Amino acid sequence: MQALILAGGKGTRLRPLTVYTPKPIVPVLNRPFLLYQIEILRRTGIEDITLSLNYQPDKIEHLLGDGAEYGVKLRYLTEPSPLGTGGAYKFAENEIRETTIVFNGDVLTDLDVSEVIEFHRQKNAEATIVLTPVANPSAYGLVETDADGRVRRFLEKPKPEELAGLTTENINAGIYVLEPGVLDLIAEGENTSFEYNVFPDLLKAKKEFFAFVMNENYWRDIGTPPSYLQAHHDFLSGRIKNFEIEKSGEAEISHTAIVDKTSIIGADCIIKPNARIINSVLGAGVHVEEKAVVENSVIWAYTRISSAAHIQNAVVGRSCHIGRNVSVGEAAVLGDKTSLTDYTKV
Ligand code: GDD
Ligand code: MG
Repeated sequence: MQALILAGGKGTRLRPLTVYTPKPIVPVLNRPFLLYQIEILRRTGIEDITLSLNYQPDKIEHLLGDGAEYGVKLRYLTEPSPLGTGGAYKFAENEIRETTIVFNGDVLTDLDVSEVIEFHRQKNAEATIVLTPVANPSAYGLVETDADGRVRRFLEKPKPEELAGLTTENINAGIYVLEPGVLDLIAEGENTSFEYNVFPDLLKAKKEFFAFVMNENYWRDIGTPPSYLQAHHDFLSGRIKNFEIEKSGEAEISHTAIVDKTSIIGADCIIKPNARIINSVLGAGVHVEEKAVVENSVIWAYTRISSAAHIQNAVVGRSCHIGRNVSVGEAAVLGDKTSLTDYTKV
């Protein structure tokens, strides 16, 4: 069993965070995001993992290396130009020798993938797609199934009028188990999408195409700022349980500063007197000056927050400078190296 992670998208919806950091390696609780996917694959004994890249591939390869540190063997494939999700799988054809588990490189889940593989084998499927229920399915691929779990219809990003007659809330969770035979349905060198092309083609060709519905598992696509921030809150509040969280590193925290128990403070942070850190994650080397408040927020490494600044429900990129008495409010997202003059309100 091998794995392919589709990690080549531009991460446009997560801009400006993805201007310098490709989405697959944005920090989640101070760890590159892909490490959560790598961990759940390794738990199932899947160590042969290919990363399918396009946007800023060198940064990803440089950070994750050959995977030995994480107990897996990582290979990298970079398309000459984006080939789409299905095209990226076809582009990896030379690497694919057996049943492959494919992940969208932005879904955070604690799913036990061995259950999906077991289901796929029992059904003797050519393709199995994992589904999860969501409240607002229109932003995803909606999937209708028969009582026996066969996929009947796949509808990517349905328009409101298309949603009208639909009875399901189950969407494509971006996790597939595919037999190498699926490669034969995809033309070489063309931009092809699993969602718009390959899945409908599997149905037309009447292939054994099944859906595994997730049950009680955590699932989230981290590809928008509110969702990225929410993933942190879900970890901090204990909603995601199956990962070991690296608590705080060695930091210099004044005895008059308040850091609540849920917050995570990266290595080499400096927190000055009377500063308050509440329900937040600080990357390495963040400086928080006197009386500054960071609440329900994520601050990337090496950002400086000056005295009496107030940051709430926000994501602040790397190496930013937040001036004195600045107020950064609800849902603000600041890209790397942002500099805010004293007293600015965002
Ligand atoms: N290598 C490569 N090449 N990867 C790509 C390309 C490409 O051309 N295009 C997208 N990807 C990767 C992205 O990096 C991402 O990890 C994954 O494929 C999915 O792309 P998104 O752009 O995040 O898609 P989405 O979130 O709008 O929709 C997809 O995911 C939903 C679940 O989160 C679809 O698969 C939906 O059907 C699904 O419900
Ligand atoms: Mg996505």
